[in-house]
Amino acid sequence: MSGILVAIDGPAASGKSTTARSVAVRLGYCHLNSGLLYRSIAWCSLRDGWIDAPGRFGPELERLDLTLERRDREFLVLVNGEAAGRGLLTAPETARRASRVAAMPEVRNRVLHVLRVTGEEGGVTCDGRDIGTVVFPAAELKIFLVASAHERARRRILEHGGDPAGPAFYEEVRSLEERDLRDANRSLAPMVPAADAIQIDTTELSPDEVVDRIVALALERGAEPVDESPDFA
Ligand code: C5P
Repeated sequence: MSGILVAIDGPAASGKSTTARSVAVRLGYCHLNSGLLYRSIAWCSLRDGWIDAPGRFGPELERLDLTLERRDREFLVLVNGEAAGRGLLTAPETARRASRVAAMPEVRNRVLHVLRVTGEEGGVTCDGRDIGTVVFPAAELKIFLVASAHERARRRILEHGGDPAGPAFYEEVRSLEERDLRDANRSLAPMVPAADAIQIDTTELSPDEVVDRIVALALERGAEPVDESPDFA
């Protein structure tokens, strides 16, 4: 697939993956969600009992068949030929464990390879924490999305069908902040904006406003105008 590469990084629940998917649909591109790879490894290693087994972790990871399969405008992550359900991948325990396994060099190398092989031809919007800095440092467009922790917690709770005015709110803020801190302070591929990234604060913006801005920037950077054929609906 031809086209430019749009890297979208930012902290947990800043709207990266929803934005990256919508931008991909508008441009006729495909969305590559790097967090799903870390979540899938965490899910599988939790399920099979090797996540906390240092002697087993490396060999089990090496044996793991990790592939991406294109489905419409998304890539599905397959672990040993199997895709985890969305509920399992978005569970708080999976998210917490994903940010731990994501600090391991062997896991990062593995994911880096899969992402590069999949995205190198362009025509992709890829979201994560280190996409513009490490995975695709030559990406034509790099975006770093931010939003206040309170706004991110509110969105995350609504996404899971909860009540943002309820007792879970402060626990969600705490858990997001804990994950951000770990992602930003790890020694390997920490979450930092690339020097040439454009930062967008989405706290006061609607999802459509964010997408419009990024699509406009992508068109400026050489993305072809949208193809309106039914295939892109
Ligand atoms: O983006 P998402 O919340 O699904 O990512 C889950 C975890 O995977 C993050 O907390 C982060 O630790 C890790 N991650 C990463 N680098 C990426 C994408 C995700 O370290 N490019």
